[in-house]
Amino acid sequence: MVERAHLGQEFAPLKAPHLENPYPFYARARHEEPVFFSKDLNAWVVTRYDDVRAVVAQPDVFSSKDTLRPVVQFTPETFRELSKGFGFLPNIINTDGEEHMRFRAPLNQAFLPARMRKMEADVRTVANRLIDTFYQDGQTEIISRFAGPLPQEIILRLFDVPLTQMTQYKQWCDDIKALTMSPLTPERQLECARSFVAFQHAVAGLAEERKHTPGDDVISCMATVHHNPARPLSIPEIVNTAMGTILAGHDTTTSLLGTALYILLGTPRLWQTLCEHPENISTTVEEVLRFDSSVHLFFRTALREATVGGVTIPEGAFLLVSYASANHDETQFANAEQFDLRRSPNRHIAFGFGSHFCVGSPLARLISRVALESLTQRLPQMHLKPGQSIHHVPQLAFHGLASLELEWDVIQ
Ligand code: HEM
Repeated sequence: MVERAHLGQEFAPLKAPHLENPYPFYARARHEEPVFFSKDLNAWVVTRYDDVRAVVAQPDVFSSKDTLRPVVQFTPETFRELSKGFGFLPNIINTDGEEHMRFRAPLNQAFLPARMRKMEADVRTVANRLIDTFYQDGQTEIISRFAGPLPQEIILRLFDVPLTQMTQYKQWCDDIKALTMSPLTPERQLECARSFVAFQHAVAGLAEERKHTPGDDVISCMATVHHNPARPLSIPEIVNTAMGTILAGHDTTTSLLGTALYILLGTPRLWQTLCEHPENISTTVEEVLRFDSSVHLFFRTALREATVGGVTIPEGAFLLVSYASANHDETQFANAEQFDLRRSPNRHIAFGFGSHFCVGSPLARLISRVALESLTQRLPQMHLKPGQSIHHVPQLAFHGLASLELEWDVIQ
C-alpha cells in the first residue's frame, strides 16, 4: 500500500462526481487506501474484492444487525405515528446466524429458481403489454413506463397482492424509502410514517388470511414454512420481512434495467450486437450487474476488534462494504473498466456473498433477461434521446437513474 491518502475526507457518495461515477475514486482507493475511514458516514469503507468477501463471509465477526440503521432523525410525531404499527422489528436483512435462518428458510423456498422459471411467460406478457402502451408514441421515459412497473407488477403477483392495489403499493414503497433514506420536512416525514403504518396493516391482513388459508405465494411461504417449528415467524415478523422484500426487489431491478439500457444504448454498437445476437442477453445481464449494479454499499458492524486488509477495525465500528468497487477490482476482472457483454467467467458479487446473498437473484435475473429480450425484439431501432441530462438518485446503498428518455422511429 502506498502512503496513507486519507481518502475518507474525499468520500462523498451522495454528491457529484461520485454519485454519477464513483469508479475512478474506487480505483484510487483500491490502490492507495483500500480500507479507509469516512468521518461523515462514521464507517470504514472496504473496497477490494477479497476484503469485501472476507467481511461478509464472517457474520460472527461482522454482523448485519445495523444494516437498516436510519440515516435520518425522526420527529416525536413520527415516532408516535410509527407506534400505531409494528415498528422496525428484526427481519431477514438485519439478523445473523440461527435467527437469520428463521427468516431466510421460507424465502429460499419462495424464490427457488424452478419456481421463478414458471413465471417467465407472465414476465413476457407484462413486458409486451407495457411496450404496447408507448410503442406508437416513438418515445418514452423508460424508467416510469417500463423498468419500474415491470418488476413491481411481477413482485406483487408473487406476493398475491390484488393488482388493483398496485398504485397504492407503489405510493407506500416510495414513501417508506423516503422515510428511511431521505431528509424530509416534518410534515412529509409524518405523511410517510402514515404510509409505513398503512402498509404494515395491509400486509398483516394478508398474512392472517394466508396463515389459515395458504396459497402458492411468498406470504403463504412465510406463514407456513418454518426453519424452527418451535418458533414460527410471528405476524409482525412476516409483515416487516414482506415489506422489506417488496421494497428490496422492485427498486433494485428497476435500476438495473435503467442502467442496462443506458450502457447499451450509450454505445449503439453494443445495442446492435445484442439485437443481432440475443443469445448474449444472459451474459450481458451479468456484466451490467458487475459493471454498474444497483446496490453499491452495505453496512456491517464489527462485533469485536478485527483486521480487514491489514487495517484494525475497532469493536463496535461500522463498515461499509463496497460491492461496486469489488466488482471493478482489476485483480479479479481482466480489463475491469471495460464493459464486455460476453465476459466469462464473471464472478461478480453484485448480489452479495455468503449468508445474506440476495434471495431474489433468480427473479432479478429472469426479469432483466426477459425485459431485454422483449425490448431488443420489439424496439431494435431505439436510441437515447439526445441532449437529456442524466442523473442518479442520491441514495447511500442503492444506485439508479432518476429518468431515461428513449426515442425510435415507429415502424407500421
Ligand atoms: C438487480 C437486482 C438486485 C440486486 C442488485 C440485489 C442485491 C442484493 C444484495 C447485494 C444483497 C445482500 C445484502 C447484504 O450484503 O446484506 C441482497 C439481499 C437481498 N435481496 Fe436483493 N437484489 C436484487 C433484487 C432482488 C429481488 C428481485 C428481490 C426479491 C423480490 C430481492 C430481495 C432481497 C432480500 C430479501 C435480501 C436479503 C437476504 C438476506 O439478508 O438473507 N432482491 N440483494
